[in-house]
Amino acid sequence: MAGRIPEDIVAKIYDENDIIDYVSQYVTLKKTGRDYMGLCPFHHEKTPSFHVSREKQLFHCFGCGASGNLVQFVMRSENLDFMDAMHMLADRAGIVIPENGAVESDAQHEKKKRILAMNKDAARFFHGCLKDEKTGAKAREYFQKRGISAKTITAYGLGYAPEGRDALIKHLLSKGYTAAETVEAGLGVSRDGQIRDKFRGRVMFPIIDVRGNVIGFGGRVMHNEKEINGYTIPKYLNSPETPVFDKGKNLFSLNLAKNSSEQDIILCEGYMDVISVYQAGIKNIVATLGTAITENQARLMLRYASEILICYDMDEAGTKAALRAIDVISDAGGRSRVIRLKNAKDPDEYIIKNGVEKFREAVRNAVPSTEFKISLVKNRYDTTTADGKVLFIDETVNIFMGIKDAVEVDAYITKVAEDVGISRDAILAKYREKSSRNKFRSRIPQKSEYQKRAERETRRTVREENTSSKLMEAEKRLLGLISRSRKLYKAASEKMSPEDFSTDVYRRVAKRVYQCFENGETPEPAMILNDFEGGDLDTASGVFYNLEVYDGDEETVKELLYTIRLERLDLKIKKETNPAELSKLFGERETLLAEKNTWEE
Ligand code: CTP
Ligand code: MN
Repeated sequence: MAGRIPEDIVAKIYDENDIIDYVSQYVTLKKTGRDYMGLCPFHHEKTPSFHVSREKQLFHCFGCGASGNLVQFVMRSENLDFMDAMHMLADRAGIVIPENGAVESDAQHEKKKRILAMNKDAARFFHGCLKDEKTGAKAREYFQKRGISAKTITAYGLGYAPEGRDALIKHLLSKGYTAAETVEAGLGVSRDGQIRDKFRGRVMFPIIDVRGNVIGFGGRVMHNEKEINGYTIPKYLNSPETPVFDKGKNLFSLNLAKNSSEQDIILCEGYMDVISVYQAGIKNIVATLGTAITENQARLMLRYASEILICYDMDEAGTKAALRAIDVISDAGGRSRVIRLKNAKDPDEYIIKNGVEKFREAVRNAVPSTEFKISLVKNRYDTTTADGKVLFIDETVNIFMGIKDAVEVDAYITKVAEDVGISRDAILAKYREKSSRNKFRSRIPQKSEYQKRAERETRRTVREENTSSKLMEAEKRLLGLISRSRKLYKAASEKMSPEDFSTDVYRRVAKRVYQCFENGETPEPAMILNDFEGGDLDTASGVFYNLEVYDGDEETVKELLYTIRLERLDLKIKKETNPAELSKLFGERETLLAEKNTWEE
């Protein structure tokens, strides 16, 4: 995985960045025993279960299971891939990574480069078609009807995909791309053994990432029919996911919005909304790509903005989506407000009807998310009646429970109290009652998601790798112990080689640990964990982040080796059906037990 960055540079990046320093930027850490502890940044918790170790240069959350080394922390918290995270840490420490240090294999990297080049060629082709006197006439007329100027067409690189079967494919083939490549880029589709254009007779919106790459396209039909001759016609067609296009990780027009000097970003639903508002001079506006907002997208926007102004369609679907967006943005650690547009279905229609000044006014009047939530609840009840008041307050208090800031809760209690004519004290009492009930619930010890997942994982491994949880537990502890001490390593390695461990992950960890000692080095957990991902990473990190590894001596190693041998024998015995073999195994078991008795005396 580290692959392309030279080993010595990787080592330098780890050496010159300290995990405690880095994590402290995000989490208030308190030294407790050998570890530093704080509230986990990766899940919501009230009591700290997030450990960071300076000695091991690792983090581990006993609540949600997030764990890993510094780079893995950066990847998770900054939403970066490995290479970007390494670059960030290198920059931080003033280390230069040599240019040819690409993380992907050359083939993968080449492929992406070719798709991006092809997309750019396609965008030029579509744009050319739109401008072409004859081919683009209808499409130009369509944009004109919708109030889009020639200048805006240029700013967004808008285009037109001509009717017919394969105008674009022919063009791309003539430029040296293969038919298979056009399919992989999502520009060609294979039908009856022929490669055809995916986009036909549509106005085209290129989707451009913050680095200026054309990563995909959206295409709109030039009418509003939902069905023609019994065929449903999708209004918009988007590029499929390709090696360069991930709908959940990009936003339409962020390449332009990021250059705006505004502090916030307006988030809306449609390409046309963005374009229309941008044309009116408001440039800090983006849209999702035809799917619901993801946490990745929220974090991406929050890189450039301090607050997100949600400006979704004014229908029920839009309202629901806005409520979701509020929570997604809050989960990503950001703030949001909601823009409400009266008498228009979307921002595009609003700005055409009312002009840009009215739109600016609506932006200024964007309501805080909590207020928005409360107002929606209020619409559902008749708060002039006593019953209505009770139900309204009950739901409103539920909203308060999700607010982290005590001052904000207090301010809203006052507001709601005045609004419906209920005493502040009564609402406060209800809030306290609900919160304490919640706290009580959370005090009942419950297995964390992490614990449950770890247990599931153990059960799976036990099933698939012919091992037992007792055996795994012993091997885990042994590995952890020997990784910290050459003396203990020596004691264990005489009896057990890396291949003797019972699961793939442990064998891989053991191999690295043994190798380090053999090369006269001390194993560094943070470096070893670089070889693991996903569930394997959690398992591998459990080896080092096992609080028991701190206490243990040669006696413990001996115990563990014994347990491992006994467990293995018992597994064999369980499976053996041949009586002769069985009696041999029982004999071995006797010897083992006798051996233990002698060293226990
Ligand atoms: N969308 C999509 N596929 C569809 C319909 C919509 O991907 N079949 C996405 C597009 O990104 C679109 C957005 O959802 O921009 C919002 O859809 P909608 O409100 O229907 O379209 P508008 O953006 O308002 O487009 P227009 O004004 O051109 O009708
Ligand atoms: Mn619209």
